[in-house]
Amino acid sequence: MSDQRIRLHGLRQSTVGHTASGLWRHPDSQAHRYRDLDYWLETARILERGRFDALFIADALGPLEVYQGRVDAALRDGIQTPTDDPLLAISAMAAVTEHLGFAVTVSSTYEQPYAFARKMATLDHLTRGRIGWNVVTSALDSAARNLGLTKQLPHDQRYAVAEEFMAVAYKLWEGSWEDDAVVFSGDTFADPAKVHPVGHDGTYYQVPGIALFEPSIQRTPVIYQAGTSPVGRAFAARHAEGVFLSTYRPDMARTLTDDIRARAATAGRDPGALKFLAIATVIVAETDAEAQAKLADYQRYVSVEGGLARWSALMHLDLSVLDPDKPLEYVDTDGIRGMLELFTTLDPTRRWTPRAIAEFVGVGGGGPVIVGSPATVADELERWIDEAGIDGFNIADPIPPVTFRDFTDLVVPELQRRGRVWTDYEGSTLRESFHGPGVTRVRPDHPAAQYRWKEPQS
Ligand SMILES: Cc1cc2nc3c(=O)[nH]c(=O)nc-3n(C[C@H](O)[C@H](O)[C@H](O)COP(=O)(O)O)c2cc1C
Repeated sequence: MSDQRIRLHGLRQSTVGHTASGLWRHPDSQAHRYRDLDYWLETARILERGRFDALFIADALGPLEVYQGRVDAALRDGIQTPTDDPLLAISAMAAVTEHLGFAVTVSSTYEQPYAFARKMATLDHLTRGRIGWNVVTSALDSAARNLGLTKQLPHDQRYAVAEEFMAVAYKLWEGSWEDDAVVFSGDTFADPAKVHPVGHDGTYYQVPGIALFEPSIQRTPVIYQAGTSPVGRAFAARHAEGVFLSTYRPDMARTLTDDIRARAATAGRDPGALKFLAIATVIVAETDAEAQAKLADYQRYVSVEGGLARWSALMHLDLSVLDPDKPLEYVDTDGIRGMLELFTTLDPTRRWTPRAIAEFVGVGGGGPVIVGSPATVADELERWIDEAGIDGFNIADPIPPVTFRDFTDLVVPELQRRGRVWTDYEGSTLRESFHGPGVTRVRPDHPAAQYRWKEPQS
């Protein structure tokens, strides 16, 4: 058994129904309070008490309206529709915590890198180096239509745009202001000779000027990614420090971790520097029997229609036109190919009907549901770490914040007893949680490092 530290992220979206479908109807759920700042402050405090590395906030930029060609089912079930902006509660959460990081999802397809780089730098300033960015290219056609396009850019072109977006953002974060550009002495605030225009002239972006912000503690935020298509994996291998995985069995995760680590090595990076975090829902109680009873209670609230609305949007396929009890054939859509592969190719032992998918994902969404006493859960988490080659978990919160609190109160102490999670934070920035105390800037083998300011050779 590996003795490496298990890394923990908490998984949320600012919405009513995120990974689970229909569970907001459970009397203990506070999911409807996603609009209250108190709800987020309480979440942040719980996760910091559990010594989580970070809160990961997912996002989507359009309503889920593939199922039945309408938004109705998503609205009735509150399935990621409505959803609030993921960035705006972060400063407040940072104010009530000292170490917890914030990994926030922002789409490279719909932002301008110049303004976006400043937003991340601002959050890195305000959180004192605790910000991370989950780079997504977005897969909802409804987002494209509401954000100035008639339809989405094709899948691989969205990654080409993202690739150039990264280059522009890295130039702004790493290369525009020298470390000692801010003088703050005498009459001078910043030395103009040490602030450089980035001069980017590319296919999708022209950014001639200087970064509008002072360098922040981490400069480049910790980069996360979750692509599973070949082009998505290649992107993760080049850029990601944290890789989010959505799989149901350790062996399925292993194919991804092995492949992305191999690609990272080919790209000249230390494969061990990429940390893989698998989605997991943990239902824990003092005894196995109590935990099973808790799961059975939660399952009573699962909405099959809500689940179908969610997975229709993920698969780019209106599951309402299919017979709910007929196996789904492999369909090559322009959308979330990786997700589709997970169901139909990587787990051929199951006949995936629309109803079976909706029931299967009702509580756990895109990952396993691990149920039992603290010891049972810890055993299973350790098995995943060893067999999947992952570094930790992205713990979901289907009954917010009860599931996070149960995990923190029951599972974390058991993992601490086993020496598998830390009892206290070792650094103050998010990147130090990844790479160890003192490592606040991107490592030298990360592509952002090549954009650091260098004196021109004369
Ligand atoms: C754990 C996990 C979390 C994700 N979170 C988001 C998200 O918040 N917003 C989003 O638009 N896409 C999200 N995605 C989708 C991925 O960014 C990616 O588009 C998807 O896995 C398909 O991969 P591909 O683009 O390489 O085909 C997530 C995927 C996974 C596996």
